[in-house]
Amino acid sequence: MGFQGKRIIITGAAGCVGKALLKRLLLQDALIIAVDKDEGQLNALKAEHPSITTVSVDLMQWDETREKVLALIQDKPVDCLINNAGVVMPESFLETRQENIDLSFGIHYKAVFNISQVIAKSMIDHKIEGSIVNISSITSLRASENLGVYCASKASLDMLTKVMACELGEHKIRVNSVNPTAIWTEMAKKLPHNDGFMRRTPLKRIARVDEVVNTVLFVLGDDCPMMNGSFLTIDGGYSVCAN
Ligand SMILES: NC(=O)c1ccc[n+]([C@@H]2O[C@H](COP(=O)([O-])OP(=O)(O)OC[C@H]3O[C@@H](n4cnc5c(N)ncnc54)[C@H](O)[C@@H]3O)[C@@H](O)[C@H]2O)c1
Repeated sequence: MGFQGKRIIITGAAGCVGKALLKRLLLQDALIIAVDKDEGQLNALKAEHPSITTVSVDLMQWDETREKVLALIQDKPVDCLINNAGVVMPESFLETRQENIDLSFGIHYKAVFNISQVIAKSMIDHKIEGSIVNISSITSLRASENLGVYCASKASLDMLTKVMACELGEHKIRVNSVNPTAIWTEMAKKLPHNDGFMRRTPLKRIARVDEVVNTVLFVLGDDCPMMNGSFLTIDGGYSVCAN
């Protein structure tokens, strides 16, 4: 797929999906910059994979994120960005707290805006034909009880993906999103139990992490140069099933 020697930023790299992406891309000799707020996990990752660069930052901090990312890419621009950091805090619509709204939109929307702006400008300055993948969710397309903020913030991320694709295309930068159903991860354990969910999933299961990684790498790499502004669902048919 041609990731050899490519510099790739992964946000939320210390989480389940982030780590799996990092490990798979390292196998293809990519140069990884792992961004996360979990410094302990980043240090453990660095000990396991000394070639990676780690950036410990809370993506909610607008200026600090820009400064840290800019410092890294000033001389050596990046080729790819995977916006993967995420949070989920199930709450009913009536009980949803302001903190949940601020955090979810802060990570899934504002932070993606911030870091992508910095990276895209650098790609343009260095004439890099870059690729950005935003990790969204199938909940951006289908409403889920008790996940109102998560659904709405991922839906806003999908629209941001489309706008970025429109504006950055002329600079040969592609922007796409990947929208998984629940994945076998720690995050999925926090999701509210929902019987109807499995009934409406034709394949009758949730997704595996490796299936998500395969899809992200497919759209991130050079195999599909005309894919821009697309969203790839990984949901066993959930989003198209009328039952
Ligand atoms: N797990 C699922 O079922 C599922 C389903 C669909 C989509 N997703 C999406 O996939 C992505 C990865 O999910 P995951 O299951 O690996 O979650 P995870 O909780 O294992 O990892 C998320 C990572 O993001 C980091 N993060 C959170 N807030 C941050 C902040 N303010 N600054 C810096 N880093 C921050 C966390 O420290 C963590 O390492 C998320 O965007 C999530 O919304 C997950």
